[in-house]
Amino acid sequence: MKKIIIAIDGHSSCGKSTLAKSLAKELDYIYVDTGAMYRAVTLYFIQNKIDLSDLIQVEESLKHINIRFQKSGELTHTFLNDKDVEFEIREMSVSNKVSEVAEISVVRKVLVREQQEMGIDKGLVMDGRDIGTVVFPDAELKIFLTASIAVRTRRRFEELNQKGVIVNYKVVENNLNHRDHIDSTRSDSPLKQADDALLIDNSEMDKEKQLEMVKNLALAKILAKRR
Ligand code: DC
Repeated sequence: MKKIIIAIDGHSSCGKSTLAKSLAKELDYIYVDTGAMYRAVTLYFIQNKIDLSDLIQVEESLKHINIRFQKSGELTHTFLNDKDVEFEIREMSVSNKVSEVAEISVVRKVLVREQQEMGIDKGLVMDGRDIGTVVFPDAELKIFLTASIAVRTRRRFEELNQKGVIVNYKVVENNLNHRDHIDSTRSDSPLKQADDALLIDNSEMDKEKQLEMVKNLALAKILAKRR
């Protein structure tokens, strides 16, 4: 069976990774969370006190960063230089800085190259902000997800609460608005819907219905490849 690449882009906390993960499982495809890669780089920069305005220091430090993913039961964990950082990279300290790091072109250049290498054999569901526009402009299926800010804040707030992270609702909302603003207005690879991406607003849609819909679209694309 021919394999395809599925690109899922969209705003922060609109359920991209939930959809991408479930879809990859249904199709037996590899799932890659590119946001986790930007988060891991951000964690490294914080830990090593890298000055983001010093591009030589930033470029040099990127040579010392190795990011990989490893399955642990149902979950995929992110490893930074062989240390499991899956939980650390989701903390607010990282969320507050990640968009600033993702604006830096040299960071994007390195991560985009790694992401493209992961897609060489296809059979991949990748989520992020620039997957359908920059990383895989020829992806067979492109989805652009969004949801209202109220729905996204509530989902993110509940997710953090479930993980035992105590955080103020307003702080979560401000962080999402702030990240969306930087992600959509940066000069290098801003978040935007690719011309050939399908827009899905899932504010009122349940996860199962969304998965079913996207899975059917993916299967149609896979079948079309066989002809
Ligand atoms: O998907 P996420 O919220 O974990 O992503 C964290 C940040 O990384 C997000 O605010 C923007 C950035 N990002 C990006 O610029 N490009 C990607 N492909 C993925 C994430």
